[in-house]
Amino acid sequence: MAKPLIVGNWKMHKTVGEAVDFARRLRDALSANLDRSVAVAPPFTAIYPVAQVLKGSGIGVCAQNMHEKAAGAYTGEVSAPLLADAGCEYVIIGHSERRTYFGEGDDVVNRKIKAARGSGLKAICCIGETLQEREAGQTFSVIERQAKKGLRGLNAAEIGGVAIAYEPVWAIGTGKTATPDEARDVHLFIRDIVKGEYGEGITADLQVIYGGSVNPANIADLMARPEIGGVLVGGASLDIESFAKIVRF
Ligand code: 13P
Repeated sequence: MAKPLIVGNWKMHKTVGEAVDFARRLRDALSANLDRSVAVAPPFTAIYPVAQVLKGSGIGVCAQNMHEKAAGAYTGEVSAPLLADAGCEYVIIGHSERRTYFGEGDDVVNRKIKAARGSGLKAICCIGETLQEREAGQTFSVIERQAKKGLRGLNAAEIGGVAIAYEPVWAIGTGKTATPDEARDVHLFIRDIVKGEYGEGITADLQVIYGGSVNPANIADLMARPEIGGVLVGGASLDIESFAKIVRF
Protein backbone atom coordinates (compact mmCIF):
# COMPACT_ATOMS: atom_id res chain seq x y z
CA MET A 1 0.00 0.00 0.00
CA ALA A 2 1.25 3.47 -0.89
CA LYS A 3 1.66 6.08 1.84
CA PRO A 4 -1.27 8.52 2.20
CA LEU A 5 -0.92 11.38 -0.28
CA ILE A 6 -1.77 14.88 0.94
CA VAL A 7 -1.62 17.74 -1.54
CA GLY A 8 -2.40 21.41 -0.96
CA ASN A 9 -3.80 23.09 -4.08
CA TRP A 10 -3.26 26.81 -3.64
CA LYS A 11 -5.13 27.69 -6.83
CA MET A 12 -4.61 31.38 -7.78
CA HIS A 13 -3.24 32.44 -4.41
CA LYS A 14 0.09 33.49 -2.86
CA THR A 15 2.79 35.80 -4.11
CA VAL A 16 6.33 34.44 -4.41
CA GLY A 17 7.13 35.86 -0.97
CA GLU A 18 4.08 34.30 0.65
CA ALA A 19 4.68 30.96 -1.06
CA VAL A 20 8.33 30.79 -0.02
CA ASP A 21 7.48 31.73 3.55
CA PHE A 22 4.83 28.99 3.67
CA ALA A 23 7.25 26.44 2.19
CA ARG A 24 9.93 27.28 4.78
CA ARG A 25 7.45 26.95 7.61
CA LEU A 26 6.05 23.68 6.29
CA ARG A 27 9.55 22.25 5.83
CA ASP A 28 10.47 23.24 9.39
CA ALA A 29 7.22 21.86 10.82
CA LEU A 30 7.43 18.39 9.24
CA SER A 31 10.05 15.76 9.88
CA ALA A 32 12.00 14.58 6.82
CA ASN A 33 10.93 10.95 7.17
CA LEU A 34 7.19 11.40 7.24
CA ASP A 35 5.02 8.33 6.83
CA ARG A 36 2.96 10.16 4.23
CA SER A 37 3.60 11.86 0.90
CA VAL A 38 3.03 15.61 1.04
CA ALA A 39 3.07 18.20 -1.74
CA VAL A 40 2.01 21.76 -2.35
CA ALA A 41 0.71 23.15 -5.65
CA PRO A 42 1.67 26.84 -5.95
CA PRO A 43 0.73 29.04 -8.89
CA PHE A 44 3.25 28.78 -11.78
CA THR A 45 5.07 31.94 -10.69
CA ALA A 46 6.08 30.40 -7.35
CA ILE A 47 6.93 26.85 -8.41
CA TYR A 48 10.67 27.33 -8.83
CA PRO A 49 11.38 29.27 -5.61
CA VAL A 50 9.17 26.89 -3.59
CA ALA A 51 10.98 23.88 -5.11
CA GLN A 52 14.32 25.42 -4.09
CA VAL A 53 13.15 25.76 -0.48
CA LEU A 54 11.69 22.23 -0.38
CA LYS A 55 14.66 20.48 -2.00
CA GLY A 56 15.70 17.52 0.16
CA SER A 57 12.78 17.98 2.56
CA GLY A 58 10.71 15.09 1.19
CA ILE A 59 7.86 17.54 0.48
CA GLY A 60 6.98 17.61 -3.20
CA VAL A 61 5.96 20.42 -5.52
CA CYS A 62 2.93 20.03 -7.75
CA ALA A 63 1.75 22.10 -10.71
CA GLN A 64 -1.94 22.89 -11.05
CA ASN A 65 -2.12 22.36 -14.81
CA MET A 66 0.08 21.91 -17.89
CA HIS A 67 -0.09 21.94 -21.68
CA GLU A 68 -0.18 18.63 -23.51
CA LYS A 69 2.65 19.49 -25.93
CA ALA A 70 6.30 19.42 -24.86
CA ALA A 71 7.28 22.72 -26.52
CA GLY A 72 6.23 25.09 -29.26
CA ALA A 73 4.29 28.21 -30.15
CA TYR A 74 1.62 28.03 -27.43
CA THR A 75 1.64 31.50 -25.94
CA GLY A 76 0.80 31.51 -22.26
CA GLU A 77 1.18 27.76 -21.73
CA VAL A 78 3.62 25.70 -19.66
CA SER A 79 4.70 22.17 -20.61
CA ALA A 80 5.55 19.07 -18.60
CA PRO A 81 9.31 19.25 -19.34
CA LEU A 82 9.35 22.89 -18.16
CA LEU A 83 7.54 21.92 -14.96
CA ALA A 84 9.91 19.04 -14.30
CA ASP A 85 12.85 21.38 -14.90
CA ALA A 86 11.42 23.90 -12.41
CA GLY A 87 11.28 21.21 -9.71
CA CYS A 88 7.80 19.72 -9.96
CA GLU A 89 7.22 16.11 -9.02
CA TYR A 90 3.44 16.14 -9.55
CA VAL A 91 0.89 17.86 -11.74
CA ILE A 92 -2.87 18.16 -11.24
CA ILE A 93 -4.78 17.38 -14.42
CA GLY A 94 -8.44 17.90 -15.21
CA HIS A 95 -9.37 19.84 -12.10
CA SER A 96 -13.07 20.72 -12.25
CA GLU A 97 -12.15 24.42 -12.46
CA ARG A 98 -10.18 23.64 -15.64
CA ARG A 99 -13.10 21.63 -16.98
CA THR A 100 -15.69 24.32 -16.10
CA TYR A 101 -13.87 27.58 -16.91
CA PHE A 102 -11.44 26.43 -19.61
CA GLY A 103 -13.50 23.81 -21.42
CA GLU A 104 -11.16 20.89 -20.76
CA GLY A 105 -12.71 17.54 -21.58
CA ASP A 106 -11.75 13.93 -21.01
CA ASP A 107 -9.71 13.66 -24.24
CA VAL A 108 -7.47 16.60 -23.32
CA VAL A 109 -7.12 15.18 -19.83
CA ASN A 110 -6.01 11.85 -21.32
CA ARG A 111 -3.40 13.49 -23.56
CA LYS A 112 -2.09 15.61 -20.69
CA ILE A 113 -1.71 12.58 -18.43
CA LYS A 114 0.32 10.79 -21.10
CA ALA A 115 2.48 13.88 -21.62
CA ALA A 116 3.02 14.28 -17.87
CA ARG A 117 4.08 10.67 -17.44
CA GLY A 118 6.34 10.97 -20.48
CA SER A 119 8.23 13.70 -18.64
CA GLY A 120 8.38 11.72 -15.41
CA LEU A 121 5.75 13.77 -13.58
CA LYS A 122 3.22 12.00 -11.39
CA ALA A 123 -0.27 12.96 -12.52
CA ILE A 124 -3.17 13.65 -10.19
CA CYS A 125 -6.23 13.17 -12.37
CA CYS A 126 -9.33 14.89 -10.99
CA ILE A 127 -12.80 13.53 -11.60
CA GLY A 128 -16.14 14.30 -9.98
CA GLU A 129 -19.79 14.97 -10.59
CA THR A 130 -21.64 18.28 -10.38
CA LEU A 131 -24.59 18.81 -8.04
CA GLN A 132 -26.96 18.61 -10.98
CA GLU A 133 -25.47 15.28 -12.05
CA ARG A 134 -25.64 13.93 -8.50
CA GLU A 135 -29.27 14.96 -8.15
CA ALA A 136 -30.07 13.33 -11.48
CA GLY A 137 -28.59 10.06 -10.19
CA GLN A 138 -25.66 10.25 -12.63
CA THR A 139 -22.76 10.20 -10.16
CA PHE A 140 -21.50 6.76 -11.09
CA SER A 141 -21.97 7.14 -14.84
CA VAL A 142 -20.07 10.46 -14.81
CA ILE A 143 -17.26 8.96 -12.73
CA GLU A 144 -17.07 5.95 -15.03
CA ARG A 145 -16.87 8.11 -18.16
CA GLN A 146 -14.27 10.49 -16.75
CA ALA A 147 -12.11 7.68 -15.33
CA LYS A 148 -12.24 5.46 -18.42
CA LYS A 149 -11.67 8.25 -20.94
CA GLY A 150 -9.11 10.06 -18.81
CA LEU A 151 -7.01 6.91 -18.31
CA ARG A 152 -7.59 5.38 -21.73
CA GLY A 153 -4.65 3.60 -23.33
CA LEU A 154 -2.08 4.28 -20.61
CA ASN A 155 0.64 1.64 -20.37
CA ALA A 156 1.68 0.06 -17.07
CA ALA A 157 4.45 2.60 -16.43
CA GLU A 158 2.10 5.48 -17.18
CA ILE A 159 -0.76 4.30 -14.97
CA GLY A 160 1.73 3.48 -12.21
CA GLY A 161 2.37 7.19 -11.71
CA VAL A 162 -1.25 8.33 -11.70
CA ALA A 163 -3.33 9.14 -8.63
CA ILE A 164 -7.03 9.79 -9.04
CA ALA A 165 -8.62 12.57 -7.03
CA TYR A 166 -12.34 12.22 -6.51
CA GLU A 167 -13.53 15.81 -6.14
CA PRO A 168 -17.31 16.12 -6.21
CA VAL A 169 -17.80 19.56 -7.72
CA TRP A 170 -20.58 20.41 -5.25
CA ALA A 171 -18.13 19.92 -2.37
CA ILE A 172 -15.40 22.24 -3.69
CA GLY A 173 -15.14 25.50 -1.78
CA THR A 174 -18.66 25.11 -0.46
CA GLY A 175 -18.03 23.80 3.04
CA LYS A 176 -20.08 20.73 2.09
CA THR A 177 -17.99 17.59 2.31
CA ALA A 178 -19.06 14.25 0.92
CA THR A 179 -19.60 12.06 3.96
CA PRO A 180 -16.76 9.60 4.42
CA ASP A 181 -19.15 6.81 3.40
CA GLU A 182 -20.23 8.64 0.23
CA ALA A 183 -16.59 9.21 -0.67
CA ARG A 184 -15.70 5.61 0.13
CA ASP A 185 -18.43 4.27 -2.17
CA VAL A 186 -17.14 6.32 -5.10
CA HIS A 187 -13.53 5.41 -4.30
CA LEU A 188 -14.41 1.72 -4.37
CA PHE A 189 -16.18 2.23 -7.68
CA ILE A 190 -13.11 4.01 -9.12
CA ARG A 191 -10.83 1.19 -7.98
CA ASP A 192 -13.12 -1.34 -9.66
CA ILE A 193 -13.02 0.60 -12.92
CA VAL A 194 -9.22 0.76 -12.89
CA LYS A 195 -9.05 -2.91 -11.93
CA GLY A 196 -11.33 -3.74 -14.86
CA GLU A 197 -9.13 -1.79 -17.28
CA TYR A 198 -5.66 -2.57 -15.94
CA GLY A 199 -5.93 -5.64 -13.72
CA GLU A 200 -5.61 -6.34 -10.02
CA GLY A 201 -1.83 -5.70 -9.99
CA ILE A 202 -2.31 -1.99 -10.69
CA THR A 203 -4.87 -1.33 -7.99
CA ALA A 204 -2.69 -2.45 -5.08
CA ASP A 205 -0.63 0.74 -5.43
CA LEU A 206 -3.30 2.95 -6.96
CA GLN A 207 -3.95 6.07 -4.94
CA VAL A 208 -7.49 7.37 -4.95
CA ILE A 209 -7.69 10.56 -2.93
CA TYR A 210 -10.59 12.80 -1.93
CA GLY A 211 -11.01 16.55 -2.42
CA GLY A 212 -13.78 18.96 -1.47
CA SER A 213 -13.90 21.07 1.70
CA VAL A 214 -11.32 18.98 3.55
CA ASN A 215 -10.25 20.69 6.77
CA PRO A 216 -8.54 19.89 10.09
CA ALA A 217 -11.90 18.94 11.63
CA ASN A 218 -12.93 16.33 9.06
CA ILE A 219 -9.59 14.86 7.96
CA ALA A 220 -9.39 12.10 10.58
CA ASP A 221 -12.84 10.81 9.76
CA LEU A 222 -12.10 10.73 6.03
CA MET A 223 -8.73 9.05 6.48
CA ALA A 224 -10.26 6.43 8.80
CA ARG A 225 -11.66 4.80 5.63
CA PRO A 226 -8.93 2.59 4.15
CA GLU A 227 -10.38 3.22 0.68
CA ILE A 228 -9.50 6.93 0.99
CA GLY A 229 -5.81 7.10 0.15
CA GLY A 230 -5.26 10.78 0.80
CA VAL A 231 -6.67 14.24 0.17
CA LEU A 232 -6.43 17.17 -2.22
CA VAL A 233 -7.00 20.28 -0.13
CA GLY A 234 -7.96 23.72 -1.45
CA GLY A 235 -8.91 26.53 0.94
CA ALA A 236 -7.63 24.84 4.10
CA SER A 237 -4.16 24.40 2.55
CA LEU A 238 -3.54 28.15 2.36
CA ASP A 239 -2.95 28.53 6.07
CA ILE A 240 0.15 26.85 7.44
CA GLU A 241 -1.39 25.87 10.80
CA SER A 242 -4.43 24.39 9.12
CA PHE A 243 -2.43 22.51 6.46
CA ALA A 244 0.08 21.18 9.02
CA LYS A 245 -2.84 19.84 11.09
CA ILE A 246 -4.26 18.10 8.03
CA VAL A 247 -0.88 16.59 7.17
CA ARG A 248 -0.52 15.26 10.72
CA PHE A 249 -4.12 13.98 10.93
P1 13P B 1 -11.62 23.17 -1.23
O1 13P B 1 -10.79 22.34 -0.28
O2 13P B 1 -11.41 24.64 -1.06
O3 13P B 1 -13.04 22.75 -1.23
O4 13P B 1 -11.04 22.87 -2.72
C1 13P B 1 -10.90 21.55 -3.11
C2 13P B 1 -10.14 21.52 -4.37
O5 13P B 1 -10.61 21.96 -5.41
C3 13P B 1 -8.78 20.97 -4.33
O6 13P B 1 -8.27 20.78 -5.61
